[in-house]
Amino acid sequence: MATSESKHDLRPDLNETINVSEAHAAIKDAPPAVGREKSLRENGMEAVSLWLILVSGIVVLVGGAVMGQGGSFFGYNELVKDGYVRGKSPVKEEVPLQPIPALALLQKEGQKQYAACASCHQSSGMGGGEFPPLAGSEWVTGNTEKLAMIIHNGVGGPIEVAGTTYNGNMAAIGANFGPKELAAVMTYIRTSWGNNASLVTPEMAEEALKISKARGGMPTTAEELKKNHDKMLPGDNLAPDTLLDPETWEPIPAAE
Ligand code: HEC
Repeated sequence: MATSESKHDLRPDLNETINVSEAHAAIKDAPPAVGREKSLRENGMEAVSLWLILVSGIVVLVGGAVMGQGGSFFGYNELVKDGYVRGKSPVKEEVPLQPIPALALLQKEGQKQYAACASCHQSSGMGGGEFPPLAGSEWVTGNTEKLAMIIHNGVGGPIEVAGTTYNGNMAAIGANFGPKELAAVMTYIRTSWGNNASLVTPEMAEEALKISKARGGMPTTAEELKKNHDKMLPGDNLAPDTLLDPETWEPIPAAE
């Protein structure tokens, strides 16, 4: 605020609140000189000094040149000498698959194949209606040759399962099974739902496929199974905890 005293004071009046150019602009019929007057800026909004812009520009220019110098600023030349060859990693390139116990491997594969059976015999193995159960069935847990014949050729006509006589038809659901698939599904149903029979190896299943081929592709009957196939398939037994390579199904030699 301008007081009469400050009129004679040459220092700027910091308390002055009047914006002169605005005040002049507000006056009607202001002379053209008013329009040419430089308007005042709010505190802190004044234009930046040209010098400051110039100095900043030089700093950026020099900084960029240092960093961009052939990558030497961020380079690894200090750490990696010329002709350095990277050493061999102590980690093995190929991580071998974890061996799986024979029973677990057969059951795992067998459970997959059992999808072809579950629509009739149910995932519980209990069957139902015209479909006989596999849980607690002597056809499943008994001699392996007759079981293989049922799966590979199908079965029809009267068949007694766990005290009940069924008289239906099962097509050759497993006709396309190879030795591994047949062994796996046989092992799966022989060791699931409380069934506790021996596992079936792919070698045994291979024998079964030969026998099956020799007899022809007709569905079997309970009568024929009892008469001709009530045997165990030939082949060496495999201890359930034998470690197998999950890829090749070959036993893994004991670790050195
Ligand atoms: C389309 C329905 C159907 C499918 C799928 C089917 N079955 Fe059967 N299965 C039957 C019928 C029906 C019988 C009884 C046949 C008879 O009365 O002679 C039977 C009987 C059996 C028997 C002998 C009786 C018993 O219950 O133990 C076995 C073992 C068997 N099936 C296993 C399998 C396996 C393993 C698969 C899958 C690979 C399979 N079945 C798929 C319908 C089916």
